[in-house]
Amino acid sequence: MSLAQGRHYLAIPGPSVMPDRVLQAMHRPAPNIYTGALVDLTASLIPDLRAVARTRHNVAIYISNGHGAWEAAVSNTHSRGDRVLVLATGRFALGWAEMATRMGIDCEILDFGKSDDVDIAQVEEALAADVDHAFKSVLVVQVDTSSSVKNDIQAVRAALDAAGHPALLQVDCIACLGCDRFEMDAWGVDVMVTGSQKGLMTPPGVSFVFFNDKADAVRDSADCVSSYWDWRPRAFPKEYYQYFGGTAPTHHLYGLREALDMIAEEGLENVWARHETLARAVWAAFEAWEAEGPVRLNIRDRAKRSVAVTSVRIGAPAGTELRTWLTETAGVTLGIGLGMAPPDDPAWHGFFRVAHMGHVNSHMVLGALATIQAGMQALGIPHGKGALDAAAQVCAVS
Ligand SMILES: Cc1ncc(COP(=O)(O)O)c(C=O)c1O
Repeated sequence: MSLAQGRHYLAIPGPSVMPDRVLQAMHRPAPNIYTGALVDLTASLIPDLRAVARTRHNVAIYISNGHGAWEAAVSNTHSRGDRVLVLATGRFALGWAEMATRMGIDCEILDFGKSDDVDIAQVEEALAADVDHAFKSVLVVQVDTSSSVKNDIQAVRAALDAAGHPALLQVDCIACLGCDRFEMDAWGVDVMVTGSQKGLMTPPGVSFVFFNDKADAVRDSADCVSSYWDWRPRAFPKEYYQYFGGTAPTHHLYGLREALDMIAEEGLENVWARHETLARAVWAAFEAWEAEGPVRLNIRDRAKRSVAVTSVRIGAPAGTELRTWLTETAGVTLGIGLGMAPPDDPAWHGFFRVAHMGHVNSHMVLGALATIQAGMQALGIPHGKGALDAAAQVCAVS
């Protein structure tokens, strides 16, 4: 028997759950892309995007996924042969570095593994050793979606400042903008990239590159920049089509307008607080399960965990078995253990991730946790007691 009928809950770390309001906003005929309401709507997105990124600076919008935003950021700020320092804490900074390498950038990678955050002492050492200031950028991911680690971006900024190093600080917030606290200007971030499909609750396909004037000045001499990826016409358009380098992503814009309205209505501080509380509920359950059996939270220190996604080790083949059971029998789909082991390695089946990003509330999170417990019971996976009580207690807010 399956108990999966009913509304399926996709608890993978992006694309995240799309609010009905976002879906309904997109359900309309094609609009005019030359004049009228869509042009005004597009202009209205810019201040609200800035507000979510906590910046007064510039934003360029791309019809792309996060990989496009990576390429846009690198191409506007670098010339072939530039050196950059990449801080890797899971899969995604490595992916950004692979892309930069193919663009002719010389990447020095500090790899902190799959279960740890950036070690600032090592960053300080690398910056101090770079006496000629060869590094033109530091690339770092705020939240690595594979490991679910959260890096201390302010500490990276402080390391650059202490070393008197002029490199641009470029941050990937694709996993966590609108979930984990991020303050571009206050934290001294020069470039930030993100996508529509996680905290911004809009379908994949639109990405954003935020950049300050220091980064824009570098764009003048960057020889990697091509006509399509150039952020200038997008951020400072003289004609409407320049926002997107061509036809607008019309329906994404309606969806995004609605999503940004929802964030503004709730208040960004409240959005962050909701994510924090729901994440604590998830951690409370897993910490109780950890008391017995194979389940382990990948990031041990609460302060270093993202509030958008939780990466879990459970051992092979239990990870895949549990995910499969949840999808087929309970109507909940969890994320795969991305980047934790090669896909052809049997160990790949020993991980899963629970997303709690974007349009999520107590009943979704508590429901996912209860079904994970049901799955462990059904599959005979030992686990500690009291997890659901502990999670419910976190959600028992007044
Ligand atoms: C932190 C992070 N960076 C980059 C990406 C790549 O984004 P996309 O898959 O939209 O190209 C992802 C995707 O999950 C991500 O989580």
